[in-house]
Amino acid sequence: MKAIVLVGGEGTRLRPLTTSTPKPLLPIANIAFLERQLAWLGSHGVTEVVLSMGYLPDAFREHFRGDRFGDITLRYAVEEKPLGTAGGIRFAAEGINERVIVCNGDVLTALDLGAMVRFHEERGAQASIYLCRVEDPSMFGVVPTRDDGEVVGFIEKPPRDQAPTNWINAGTYVLEPEVFDRIPTRVNVSIERETFPRMVETRGALYAYEYDGYWLDMGTPEKYLQAHADVLRGDLGALPTPDARELSPGVWVQGDADISQDALLDAPVLVGRGACIEAGASVSGSVVGEHGVVAEGAGVRRSVLHSDAVIERDAEISDSVVGAGARVGAGAGCSDITLVGAGAIVTAGSHVSAGRVSAAESTNQR
Ligand code: GDD
Ligand code: MG
Repeated sequence: MKAIVLVGGEGTRLRPLTTSTPKPLLPIANIAFLERQLAWLGSHGVTEVVLSMGYLPDAFREHFRGDRFGDITLRYAVEEKPLGTAGGIRFAAEGINERVIVCNGDVLTALDLGAMVRFHEERGAQASIYLCRVEDPSMFGVVPTRDDGEVVGFIEKPPRDQAPTNWINAGTYVLEPEVFDRIPTRVNVSIERETFPRMVETRGALYAYEYDGYWLDMGTPEKYLQAHADVLRGDLGALPTPDARELSPGVWVQGDADISQDALLDAPVLVGRGACIEAGASVSGSVVGEHGVVAEGAGVRRSVLHSDAVIERDAEISDSVVGAGARVGAGAGCSDITLVGAGAIVTAGSHVSAGRVSAAESTNQR
């Protein structure tokens, strides 16, 4: 089976983390999100994936270093200008004349793709959309259906009080080649605002498969942190990463990490290979990236440190993300959903609350 993964978005809500790394390559518990998604596709029989790209395409090529990921063959379709979700699919599908799975490149899910494909076949659908249920549907594509699953409307991001249902587009589709023919070539087209709303007018063409299991769009800072908490808790499998060893219940380590006897690790915690947690440091409900450092007396709570991030002495990090190679100076603090971009510096003694610190403007904020 073939799949197209849409990875062309700029990840604006996760800036500055996405200034140098596209959203799908940000790690979720020390594994690039996209690797988790490809592994999931592979486990359901997908053997060929086209990455539909526009923003920072070279980062994907460098990450995968070639055209293979496990048993999956990778192809890269690079848009010269953003073609939108449908335009991107049409462009990536050039030369493909068979059924494809399409995924947004930011959704973590436990969906049984095989069951969805069977549903799609039984209905003889041209397209099937995976739906999940959320509290507030206003940030998503809202999809009302008939009892047999036929889609009767597709309303992208409606005002909060105007969503007809809590079942939303979960960002995975099964598409027959007829759907590609509905999309004009080389222009910007949105599948959510144009293609699907129009398909509703053809009876029997568009169906929705409801699955109420684990689902998360990791595209905002809050959800990005949430994804880590969920993976550490075991919502997506017993191990947070395949190579993690459990030191004590809920405390995981990859490879050799240098963890002081006098450091406090409060589960759930994942410490990446080569990381160093010094005496008197405390880490709880957090992920420390490969070769990261949490120095003496520093505290890291409900946070995510990317590879090579350094938290100096007595600094305090809570509910925040510290990007690759970034440094939080001695006695500094980051809290309340602060994002520190790759290579950025939070000056010693300063405090950043709900802030965005990028390498270009690393500074002494507040
Ligand atoms: N190739 C390509 N070209 N990909 C793009 C483009 C583009 O021009 N624009 C966006 N994408 C990719 C993004 O990289 C992402 O993987 C996916 O398309 C969806 O874009 P988001 O920016 O994450 O959209 P969203 O989260 O606001 O809404 C979408 O996902 C929701 C579920 O998470 C919509 O599909 C909603 O209907 C849906 O409910
Ligand atoms: Mg999204």
